[in-house]
Amino acid sequence: MGNETSQNDRIVMEARKITKIFPGTRALQEVDFSVYGGKINVLVGENGAGKSTLMKILAGIEQPTSGEIYLYNGSVTPSRVSFANTRDAARKGIGIVHQELNLFSDLTVSENIFMNKEIKRYKSLYIHHEQQNEKSKEILHKLGQDIDPNTLIRNLRLGQQQIVEIAKTMVDEPKILIMDEPTSSLSVQEVEVLFSVIQELKEEGVGIIYISHRMEEIKRIGDYITILRDSRLVETCSMNEICMNDIVRKMVGRDPQKFFSGQTHTAGEEVLSVKHMTLPRFGGGFTLDKVSFSVRKGEILGIYGLMGAGRTELLESMMGVVEKAEGEVWLEGKSLHGMQPKDRIAHGLVLIPEERQREGLFLNLAVDQNLTMACMHRYAKALKIHEKKERELVLQMIREMRIKVASPQISINALSGGNQQKVVIGKCLLTQPKVLLMDEPTRGIDVGAKSEVFEIMNTMANNKFGIVFVSSELEEILSMSDRIIVLSKGKITGEFLRSEATEEVLRRASEIGHGITAATKTTEVEKAYGN
Ligand SMILES: Nc1ncnc2c1ncn2[C@@H]1O[C@H](COP(=O)(O)OP(=O)(O)OP(=O)(O)O)[C@@H](O)[C@H]1O
Ligand SMILES: [Mg+2]
Repeated sequence: MGNETSQNDRIVMEARKITKIFPGTRALQEVDFSVYGGKINVLVGENGAGKSTLMKILAGIEQPTSGEIYLYNGSVTPSRVSFANTRDAARKGIGIVHQELNLFSDLTVSENIFMNKEIKRYKSLYIHHEQQNEKSKEILHKLGQDIDPNTLIRNLRLGQQQIVEIAKTMVDEPKILIMDEPTSSLSVQEVEVLFSVIQELKEEGVGIIYISHRMEEIKRIGDYITILRDSRLVETCSMNEICMNDIVRKMVGRDPQKFFSGQTHTAGEEVLSVKHMTLPRFGGGFTLDKVSFSVRKGEILGIYGLMGAGRTELLESMMGVVEKAEGEVWLEGKSLHGMQPKDRIAHGLVLIPEERQREGLFLNLAVDQNLTMACMHRYAKALKIHEKKERELVLQMIREMRIKVASPQISINALSGGNQQKVVIGKCLLTQPKVLLMDEPTRGIDVGAKSEVFEIMNTMANNKFGIVFVSSELEEILSMSDRIIVLSKGKITGEFLRSEATEEVLRRASEIGHGITAATKTTEVEKAYGN
């Protein structure tokens, strides 16, 4: 669907020499950026490069320190504009889907979609709920998600919440639509639906600005590409004119390394065992159905499955954060039965959660406070906090994870999305776990940082820690795991050593129970096991 450019393509919006200075940080330096109508304009760059900041300026959320914005509005001569706020930008045709979810979890889907633009009853102050519901239904249907508009946000999966974010912008029928990492928590199928919606918008002439760290996605759908590095513009061209390696090199400023290490590790004795983990589903059936497995010291166990297979719920149940979960978790021969999450952490089990912003961070605290939050026991002596030790640990983690931050005392809010994710990972590592549970650890972080996360996983495995990691990216699972288990509808439907696993067998095992000619697939998977 991408890579279509021609001489006739028309620029609909232009940013010229945009500079943005935050206290202590120059987020953008004289960046030029053009948006073509009816095209997908991709924007890439490492975590902290300035992508979201540029988009916030184009959407009226932030004001530039200097620089100009022009809109063409169908004419050949552009007119200079400024946006007082998001509503102002929306009225001028610009919509934005944020990198972070901004939904009210205790309100319904349609209340969220119409937040601040409620449809009122004729000559009345009352909200016209029926009409809002009707319109919401229509938009959601177009987005391929027939979610009931009366559902509360907190009852939706992360991927569905992201769809609601997108629906919010569609109400205004934007001419220019900014999507800041819209696919980061969507399943493969949901991504396909989103792409077909984007295709339709493109055909209607909407100029789409698309930010993503998923390289294969960028190459596939992009018509034009702009690369930022360290707050500056490095390259802007049509997608046809540049190859993948060049994109990565221009983003990171060096030659792309090998991103997947594919190391094998020598596994020792069993460190973790999970027995009959079961989680009843609200309204009948099971989210997890007697899941049992074990992990050895020095082993990386990958868990693969489709969205809704129960992967996140499995990790959360192991951590003791899901109330209704039943089953046993043994760590180094000790049962963690009945323990609170903080006690499980003290025993050496820690989870890097999927929804990092909401679950892993205290947004009103500084970077250093967030980092040391979960490992007080390491430097708190006789109830006195050992400040020097704390400072050292924090600095070491910022260095190791290459967290881009002017000072550790800065509020976590001031960090770019990807750098916030790195803080959550750092925080978990600082607890010195024996077994690390990672839920989609590379989501939202740039190609360079991905290889750092893989490096850390390898080092931990070599140091005889156990690692369980969930990923939706087959390539990642296949290259990082020593062993892979596949979950489908809450059951283990496959287990493979790295040497036996291929994309094909994993995909098939992940579809078992989905009613897609399950019979033949089961036999084939059994064959793959050697049964
Ligand atoms: N409100 C703020 N106050 C201070 N600094 C900020 C603020 N917002 C962003 N920054 C800084 O500006 C720089 C660019 O951040 P930005 O969020 O634009 O990066 P990004 O390219 O979107 O990265 P990512 O891929 O991680 O989302 C970063 O160094 C960030 O710490
Ligand atoms: Mg960003």
